[in-house]
Amino acid sequence: MIDFQKGFRRSVVAGAGSYLPETIVTNRDLEQKLATSDEWIVQRTGITQRHIAGPDETTSTLGLRAARAALRDAGLEASDIDLVIVATSTPDFTFPSVATQIQFGLGMTGGAAFDLQAVCSGFVFAVATADKFLMSGSHRRALVIGAETFSRIVDWEDRTTCVLFGDGAGAIVLEAAPGEGTVLDRGVLTSHLRSDGRHREKLYVDGGPSSTRTTGHLRMSGKEVFRHAVGMVTDVMADAFAATGTSAADLDWFVPHQANRRIIDSSAEKLGIAPAKVVVTVDRHANTSAASIPLALCVARDDGRIKRGDLVMIEAMGGGFTWGSALIRW
Ligand code: UT7
Repeated sequence: MIDFQKGFRRSVVAGAGSYLPETIVTNRDLEQKLATSDEWIVQRTGITQRHIAGPDETTSTLGLRAARAALRDAGLEASDIDLVIVATSTPDFTFPSVATQIQFGLGMTGGAAFDLQAVCSGFVFAVATADKFLMSGSHRRALVIGAETFSRIVDWEDRTTCVLFGDGAGAIVLEAAPGEGTVLDRGVLTSHLRSDGRHREKLYVDGGPSSTRTTGHLRMSGKEVFRHAVGMVTDVMADAFAATGTSAADLDWFVPHQANRRIIDSSAEKLGIAPAKVVVTVDRHANTSAASIPLALCVARDDGRIKRGDLVMIEAMGGGFTWGSALIRW
């Protein structure tokens, strides 16, 4: 047992895993069904393809696969986990939560499990939330999952939105461990969350149990969202640098939410983050909302880029608006 009485504690990444549905839909495939073109989609977004959940797959089945992979990677059993947080805006059901379904799928009967909804910022919000649970000493090990099936809520006849999204899931295990309280510690070093409901109508779903009694479809004023995105995410990254006394030069990897290549590149440029440090998966995964960051973390970890001890910045912005950042030493 770790004696936490004296020391400072950190939420350290003990493992990571992800899952993408097998079916890939390319821009060329979409050209067959919609008045769109590979050229338009690539030029405006950087997206070339997206994964789409199969008929028997749901957000919880994708999330369960990612959770199992993260546990395997951490060398842990489900019984070692006492907190499951799932960031999602596309739950299988209004309730019960995706988190309790994943908990059941893992065979866990203890601990607490709940969903958290902050749309595309969900994973950053979930990491920050889990970190606060672990820092408080109330919980020891958290599965933090981002899982989405946006293919189920986009309007497949609206070319301005449906081409942008994909399905998938990613997860990390965060484990309370002793730290020194400095930026050299491994773990979540700082997190910064923001919301502003004045923007709620720029990106929303036009249905829900209490309004229309239907699921509804995603609606977005893309240009409006784009206009705010870079400023908002660079603000919260600046907050993370200020809180830790670090700068863009100290970063090993920048793992942003993957909505649009142009937003990613502009954000990196504005903060002076070298292009070689930017992890980009939007080309292959499209926008998987709360799943995009853990999916990208897994890609960069699996191909050898992100290594133990590396300083990693994650950030996202999404419906609400919500936005946030977290600085993690891997
Ligand atoms: O993850 C949550 C946050 N979400 C985002 O970050 C998304 C932010 N927004 C964006 O990424 C961009 O605004 C989009 C990619 C959604 C759109 O790019 P844009 O450069 O802002 O294009 P636009 O909406 O101004 O559309 C330009 C033109 C329009 O035609 P007109 O009115 O100029 O004749 C659209 O009708 O492109 C047309 N268009 C398309 N054409 C072919 C819109 N969608 C498509 C399409 N294929 N799929």
